[in-house]
Amino acid sequence: MTRTPGDEAAHDTRRARQWLAGRARGEGVHREQLIALGTAMGALAAAAGDADPTGTDVPAIVKPLDPGLLTGYGANAEMRWEAMSGQGYVVPTDRFFVRNHTRTPLLDRDTWRLRLFGTGLRGTPTRDDPVEFGYDDLTAMAVEETTALLECAGNGRHHFAAQQDQPMPGVPWGLGAVGVARWRGVRLSTVLRHAGLTDAAVDVMPEGLDPDYVTGGVNLGRVRRPLPIAKALDDVLLAYEMNGRPLPVDHGFPVRLVVPGWIGISSIKWVGPVEVSATALFSPWNTRFYRMFGPGHPVDGGPVTTQVVKSAFELPWDARLPAGVDVVLRGRSWSGNGPIRTVEISTDDRDGWRPATLDPRDEGSAWRRWTAVWRPPGPGRWTLRARATDVTGAGQPERAEPNALGYLFDGVVRHPVTVT
Ligand code: MTE
Repeated sequence: MTRTPGDEAAHDTRRARQWLAGRARGEGVHREQLIALGTAMGALAAAAGDADPTGTDVPAIVKPLDPGLLTGYGANAEMRWEAMSGQGYVVPTDRFFVRNHTRTPLLDRDTWRLRLFGTGLRGTPTRDDPVEFGYDDLTAMAVEETTALLECAGNGRHHFAAQQDQPMPGVPWGLGAVGVARWRGVRLSTVLRHAGLTDAAVDVMPEGLDPDYVTGGVNLGRVRRPLPIAKALDDVLLAYEMNGRPLPVDHGFPVRLVVPGWIGISSIKWVGPVEVSATALFSPWNTRFYRMFGPGHPVDGGPVTTQVVKSAFELPWDARLPAGVDVVLRGRSWSGNGPIRTVEISTDDRDGWRPATLDPRDEGSAWRRWTAVWRPPGPGRWTLRARATDVTGAGQPERAEPNALGYLFDGVVRHPVTVT
């Protein structure tokens, strides 16, 4: 029987509960970790069910979810890697992954305002009396364009369960919660300076205008996560275009943050209020979620910022390939630390590793395309593997180090193929 993504999600949830119960009995899990796990499993239950997690009839994702391009998980959808076969450098918007805590809101560009306030701005404007910019104010400022990769911190989470027998709570992403797009907008630093940024500012916290996130019966308010001022002033964009078109509603219309190299939650969509503070800021998204809890990690969990190294084949899961003829295997590798330096592939566990050919056009960019020629020797089941190293020397281990919420899977993914 074919398993649907919903079945996979429910299965991972059950196994995560069992794993959690086992750990709680045996190894004395820290109370915070239990709370965080319980919260995340509630979110998963909502995301994995058939019902819209927000309980309305309007779909939580507005764009059509073509099953040939995307796999849906309630309010979330991941790109199918085979949908990148034959595509160019960027991911077309119709197959770009969507991660919604609740649902895509429909906002009016003409009444929308960016509202900046806080102790890090001149005159300490308040939330009720902020410094405001409309859409046209932003588009009139210096334009910036960047091609950047966006990736969910939980991308690859399903492989903790599938390969390491360590089921984790959360959306059971394969490797498709990642995409590269051309973003156009204005630098966050430009807007902060227009708003009266002072030297005292230490943190900047954008808030989304999507519905409040309610989990386990508790309203955690708007999706929001602080950014340190150094990153906010570096390469962060307030984007109003994606791939040459106005930002699609599911991706943050009218304006979103794009925070290159950092986990996807940093790139707040549908941004409205922005607090700029002279003291450190906190939200559940930097205290309860998006921290590395669990054995081997600090008791309070380290906050997650940059992404890790990953590689994917542009092939269906369990692809069919012909025996005895040369096949060009294609894939992509990426890292939050910077460009990819090497990629190796293996077509058989007994074979060892050999270098893939890197696409020279992608030197120094957000992800690196690569190819490797393989002649499948004969019919049967084979396991393809790809592993990359980035400019900092970070690579991909055979086994990813687990953490309670299943973030930052960097292990080598074992991709099954059937040769006929
Ligand atoms: N911003 C808001 N307001 N609400 C959200 O649910 N999800 C975050 C981030 N920004 C989210 C958000 C997460 S976890 C990710 S991975 C990215 O948006 C996903 O962006 P995308 O849906 O455009 O691919």
